[in-house]
Amino acid sequence: MKVGILTSGGDCPGLNAVIRGAVLKGDSIYEDEFVGYLDGWKGVRDDEFIPIPRRLVRGIGRQGGTILGTSRVNPFHEDGGGADGVRKVLEDHEIDALIAIGGDGTLYTANRLAEAGIPIVGVPKTVDNDLDATDYTFGFHTAVDIATENLDRLRMTGNSHHRCMVAEVMGRSVGWIALHSGMAAGAHVICIPEFPLTIEEICDYVAQRAARSKRRSPLVVVAEGYVPKDAPADFMDYEMDEFGRPILGGVAQRLAPYIEEATGIETRATVLGHIQRGGEPNAYDRVLATRFGMAAIDLVHEGGFGRMVSLRGTDIVDEPLTEAIDSVKRVPKSRWDEVRVLFG
Ligand code: F6P
Repeated sequence: MKVGILTSGGDCPGLNAVIRGAVLKGDSIYEDEFVGYLDGWKGVRDDEFIPIPRRLVRGIGRQGGTILGTSRVNPFHEDGGGADGVRKVLEDHEIDALIAIGGDGTLYTANRLAEAGIPIVGVPKTVDNDLDATDYTFGFHTAVDIATENLDRLRMTGNSHHRCMVAEVMGRSVGWIALHSGMAAGAHVICIPEFPLTIEEICDYVAQRAARSKRRSPLVVVAEGYVPKDAPADFMDYEMDEFGRPILGGVAQRLAPYIEEATGIETRATVLGHIQRGGEPNAYDRVLATRFGMAAIDLVHEGGFGRMVSLRGTDIVDEPLTEAIDSVKRVPKSRWDEVRVLFG
């Protein structure tokens, strides 16, 4: 078969390992030929692709980013070309199937294309780990490792200066990265969108911590999507992006002055930002991504169009793409109750 691959949406450690897994298995087991569309759906729209022979994927499993590039172009947006545009590009180059690697937006698009009869399978990716249709997405554990390493660094400088350090991590509307990195780094408070603490509660935990010892400074981890339960009206005066969604980032800076004022402890805020997405995937994500890539090419050969690969327990299975777009995976109450015991 001739198979097209694309990576779309925000980048994520492990994208190259998926490509490598699909190409190596496709080449050895099925004698497939691969092409890679450049910059996601933009490459499909503009008919820009490169051949992916086996030698091109040698050694890329450990590289961060994506060798194909990515963008947020969507075939169903203005000038995107629609399902007919995608179909024409595939027919013109006799491409039998597409593997789309992306987050909820990409999988939503893939589902619409599958409904229009395009032979497509999905591979879920996101550092946020917010897709319900898989136990974990690759990239998440690497983002947690990077966040944890940087929280450890913040703690060190915080301890030296007897300051409270507030660190903001990614996650969009969920708190998975904050929960895991905060727990790993031994944070004294973790703020997540699912169970929003009040500013007063945060300040109480910070004060409790400070009262216990001057040598260990309070460390607060905040998910970017967190809004305090008692947020003053102007607390989240976010700018909106072109789709009317809030541009996240900045909650740590907004929180820091409240903590400083209420506790009298000098407080500094840091946004970890895109460093959580860059860099090499860790071993867990390389393995998961490679297994996803291999399972995706199997799915193509089984004719599992309109489906995506997924992790359930330790098994790689597949699910309808509609599962991926149905619901966001939020931190459940049991995990919140568990971590809250560690605060203060
Ligand atoms: O969805 C992944 C993610 O990294 C979010 O955690 C973050 O809010 C967003 O993407 C940032 O997007 P961009 O790279 O477009 O700024």
